[in-house]
Amino acid sequence: MIKIAPSILTADLSRLAEEIRRVSSADWIHVDVMDGVFVPNLSFGLPVLGAARRCTEQFLDVHLMITKPERYIDAFARAGADLLCVHLEADGPDGIARALARMEACGVKKGVALRPITKAEAILPYLEQLDLVLVMTVEPGFGGQAFLEGQLETIRQVRALIDRVNPACRLEVDGGITPLTARRAVAAGADTLVAGSAVYGAADPAQAIQALRG
Ligand code: DX5
Ligand code: ZN
Repeated sequence: MIKIAPSILTADLSRLAEEIRRVSSADWIHVDVMDGVFVPNLSFGLPVLGAARRCTEQFLDVHLMITKPERYIDAFARAGADLLCVHLEADGPDGIARALARMEACGVKKGVALRPITKAEAILPYLEQLDLVLVMTVEPGFGGQAFLEGQLETIRQVRALIDRVNPACRLEVDGGITPLTARRAVAAGADTLVAGSAVYGAADPAQAIQALRG
């Protein structure tokens, strides 16, 4: 089953509750946290996640684009994340392992994300314990960029590793997802689709979600 996860990065944050209600036909809500160091942009953090949590009981899929994320796992779990996803490039292997151990201790689902430059095999040391692998299909940092075609091959490779090692793990794609690129990403093995502009840029978000499912 394909899951659709609208990203509130592109929502009107002055009306967060209403913007979250507009995508109630989606499966998850995707929350993009940026620290201005790991990526050249700042978005929002704990207070906005907490506000989203108070607006909805939907599953909150939190994408941490922050350096040394282990420092903040407990706080994001407390603020209401259902799943936390850390970038493999955001710390060394020991730091990533500690971040995943904190997620386990906090009882949140565990994900790792790959920048376009990172090879699929980089997930292998962690894959057995993961609930989600996120393959970025743009450089992280900004909504509204064009889908990187070259990432279809990474999606295929990650799908093969997941099928071999941990078939229950979800494969999420994030960046430049439209009905057209969604179809190609799903054909390559994705099962969870993040969409910012394609949902919140549309006049009718519910219809946009339906178009992504098709
Ligand atoms: C980019 C973020 C994405 C972003 C996607 O760094 O991780 O989640 O919101 O936006 P679109 O769908 O517009 O590419
Ligand atoms: Zn994201």
